[in-house]
This record gives sequence, C-alpha cells and structure tokens, in this order.
Amino acid sequence: MWDYSEKVIDHYRNPRNVGKIDNADAIGEAGSLACGDSLKIYLKIKDGIVTDAKFQTFGCGSAVASSSILTEMIIGKSVEEVKKITNKDIADELGGLPPEKMHCSVMGYEALEDALKNFDNYTDLDDLRNEEANNQKKEKIVCTCFGVTENMIWDAIKINGLKTVEEVTNYTKAGGACGRCKGAIQDIINTYYKKEASESTLSPAQKILKINNIIENQVSPELRKDGGDITLVDIQDNKVLVKLRGKCSGCKNSHLTLKAFVETTLRDTVDKNIEVVEV
Ligand code: FES
Repeated sequence: MWDYSEKVIDHYRNPRNVGKIDNADAIGEAGSLACGDSLKIYLKIKDGIVTDAKFQTFGCGSAVASSSILTEMIIGKSVEEVKKITNKDIADELGGLPPEKMHCSVMGYEALEDALKNFDNYTDLDDLRNEEANNQKKEKIVCTCFGVTENMIWDAIKINGLKTVEEVTNYTKAGGACGRCKGAIQDIINTYYKKEASESTLSPAQKILKINNIIENQVSPELRKDGGDITLVDIQDNKVLVKLRGKCSGCKNSHLTLKAFVETTLRDTVDKNIEVVEV
C-alpha cells in the first residue's frame, strides 16, 4: 500500500479545474489510453499570463492529483514562469509522491510542455496535430509497451537525476511490462552520464571562455537591470576576481550579490569549486 500525502488525497477526492476550455489558446496531451494513463490540458492565455487551465485525465488517483495541482500552480503565472515548472515541482507541491507514482508528475510536465510548444509555434491546432504525428513517427520509441520515447527518458533522467532502470520505470513506466526495453534504457542512462562527465571536464582555456561568457551574457545583464554591473579582472584556477561597478560598487549587500548570485551562477554552470572574490 502506498503512502500518500494529505494534499494528494485532497486533490484526488476534490480535483480542481476539471474539464475542457472551449477556444483554448493551447492544448497539450501526454500518455495514451493504451498505456493506462492519459492527460489533456487546456490553457487560456492573455497578455502572456495563463488566465485559466483545465484538464481531463484518465488514470489513477496520483494522475488526477498531479493534474489538478498543476492547474492551480499555473493559473495566474506568466508563460515564462510556467515554462520553468518541472515534474519535480509538481511532486514537491503535492508533498511528494511514492516513487512508483512519479510517472504521474512526469505526465503532467509532458502535457504542459506540449501545450506550451503548441502555444509558441502554432495558431492552428490542425497544423499542430499533423506536426505532432510526424514528430512521433520521427522520434525513437524505446518502450513499445508504453509508447515511451528516447527523449522522454532522457528528460526524466536529466530533471530528476535518475540513475537506475528501476527509477526510470517509476518515472516514465518504460520497462514496467515485458521488460524487453530495459537494456535500451540502461544504454540511455550510460550515454547521459558519459555526456555529462565529458561536458563537465573543461580544458583551462575552455573554462576561462565559459566564465567570461557567463559573466558577460548572464550575470552582467541581470546586474544592469538594477543599475549595477560587473567586470571580470582575472581568473586564477578556481578563483574568479571581479570588480563590481555602478550601483553594485560600495553597496552594503555587495557581498551577498557576489556569493548568492555571481558565485552560485558560476558554480551551477561552470565548476562547483569556483570562488568569486571582489578586487
Ligand atoms: S517494451 Fe518496455 S516494457 Fe515492454
């Protein structure tokens, strides 16, 4: 018997925003009836804000709860904010899901991603359906029992840090029936971590270029929004020497800006051992 949070039980028993929106601005789908779970999400978007969201789902209690809370999470948010929501956020908002039910949160994420793709690229839903049908033909299906593609598995590994075939099954269902695809899933896991390892080993020259690039294109534009700025002075191994400028220079919170923003950004994107020092 699985242990569900009170929030999961509440959203399962009293699902919010069930139904369909006529003239929706974006529609997204995930799963399929043949695989036992399916979700369709409808969005109304005005001036870049999601003003309404509804869903129709066929699935277990966790699928209902994930879809229901997802609609609450996105109504009132900007499209840009909504694009950042992952399956992990859905599960966290529910107070967690049993590992075997994480695939329900993934289904919510995929339906939302599908709807936003539709909103960004298309105004004609017939075009979208044709394009989706073509894409599905092109995308490699790894698990034929559940119709799970290579991209879906890759995304689930990336977002949730999955390391084993069993975890991938919990999050995507792939591998959960005949098991024929388990070898292919293991290959995807191996490829993912091999790629991640090769990307994280930068040569000194590549590292300098990357730090420079992040400061110029990510950190500096953010600081300039508040009248500040930053200049890269030197890089000595993992020590990045910078000069704060504009409103940032002499600001009493400059230490916080350096550590909580500049250093964190460089650690997240380049190397977790980087230390930022003001000179
Ligand atoms: S092909 Fe994946 S479980 Fe059967």
